[in-house]
Amino acid sequence: MTIRVIKAGDIYRVEGPAKVVVRSGQIYATGVTYTEGQSFTVLRARRLAIKAVADAEVEFVLGPGALLEKAAPGEEIIDEWERQISSLDPRGVILILGMMDVGKSTVAAMLGNKALSRGYKAAIIDADVGQNDLGPPTTVSLARLARYVTHLRQLVAEKSIFLQSTSLEKIWPRAVEKIVKAVEYVKNKWQVDTVVVNTDGWVLDEDAVVFKRQLIDKIKPTVIVAIQVENELTPILNGYGNVIVLPPPPYARRRSREDRRIHREMGYGRYIFPPIELAVSLDKIPLCNLPLFQGVEISEDMRRMLAKAIGMSIIKAYQQGARVYAVVNSDSWMLKKVGGFQVACIPLDFEKGLLVGLEDREGFLVGLGVLKKLYLDRRRAVIYTSAEVEKRIGDVSCIRLGLVRLDDSFNEVEKVPGLLRAEPA
Ligand SMILES: Nc1ncnc2c1ncn2[C@@H]1O[C@H](COP(=O)(O)OP(=O)(O)OP(=O)(O)O)[C@@H](O)[C@H]1O
Ligand SMILES: [Mg+2]
Repeated sequence: MTIRVIKAGDIYRVEGPAKVVVRSGQIYATGVTYTEGQSFTVLRARRLAIKAVADAEVEFVLGPGALLEKAAPGEEIIDEWERQISSLDPRGVILILGMMDVGKSTVAAMLGNKALSRGYKAAIIDADVGQNDLGPPTTVSLARLARYVTHLRQLVAEKSIFLQSTSLEKIWPRAVEKIVKAVEYVKNKWQVDTVVVNTDGWVLDEDAVVFKRQLIDKIKPTVIVAIQVENELTPILNGYGNVIVLPPPPYARRRSREDRRIHREMGYGRYIFPPIELAVSLDKIPLCNLPLFQGVEISEDMRRMLAKAIGMSIIKAYQQGARVYAVVNSDSWMLKKVGGFQVACIPLDFEKGLLVGLEDREGFLVGLGVLKKLYLDRRRAVIYTSAEVEKRIGDVSCIRLGLVRLDDSFNEVEKVPGLLRAEPA
């Protein structure tokens, strides 16, 4: 435990795990001024800038690996953020944009706090599928703010929508649709005054620009808060008037690809807990995005004919209109044209370790799972999921296949983009 007397105007950087207790005076952090007797937390592996608004005596309870350092004058952007953000009317929809590690989540927390401090009801939508702070990885997650937070991580998702993947490169059009759905939901169902939408850090590619611009056009944010290092967001922001631009914190704690992956893997483990094995009948709870076992099972003659045409043996196949969904003896996902048919070739054992989202009737996530095995003849699936999902199994209307494969310890083994080829148009 360290006790420091901090002079008004002094800025410190705190890296967690740490608890900051104000014994006297006033300390500002993430948009909030904390006074005598109040405290806040800085999470492990996270950094935060704090500032004494008035002379203060502060108790720092530093955990293992925590850090406390005084910022040199002019070094921190805390005043700039406060100045710009407090000049905003927090009501409406606020969209946050920026690359990785620029402070998006921190600004989202700050905006939520600002809304709360003015007596508004606020909700956060975290659409960062790779590094989601509210809910499991691969989701868009929604939560209301009931108290001030220093990190979004302190909130717990009340609703999530499964987005199948840890990155949006291949599925951004459906991400737009789901994020819009989330915004509509919090506006209509929760009736909040402020909706803060946090996004993923994918902004530089051509597709990323199209994705983010579509998002802006569909969500119609009241304000866009863009955190920009140089001018990398110009292609996205071009032509939009309601933008405020913030600088990133110069001493942000960066996370490597490896750090991010580990963080996600712990995320799967946290949400699939306590883990159980669940057997479900696919007649009762079908796959949402692959109509295997739906339509008619093809005849023996047809199977032989198709197998010959595609040059692979077909283990099981169902026909739906002009499409045949065929489990084949192959490693790759393919869409083949045979006469008037399109044959979606699904590799045998494709399911092993596939991340799945168990969805309710409204398309919200009941829970994540990992597919262990599909019994093609018995039309049953065995899923590794949480006890909570088992309890709520009556709410599950279908099982959405994800685009990530995990091993038994929830390590990400590979991406499975091929599935997109077989999904119905
Ligand atoms: N003023 C600051 N000074 C130093 N570090 C800060 C400051 N504000 C936030 N940070 C830290 O910088 C890191 C990146 O911030 P944050 O997580 O908000 O960014 P992000 O854009 O959401 O990142 P990601 O792409 O990982 O989601 C975090 O560890 C955060 O705690
Ligand atoms: Mg973030």
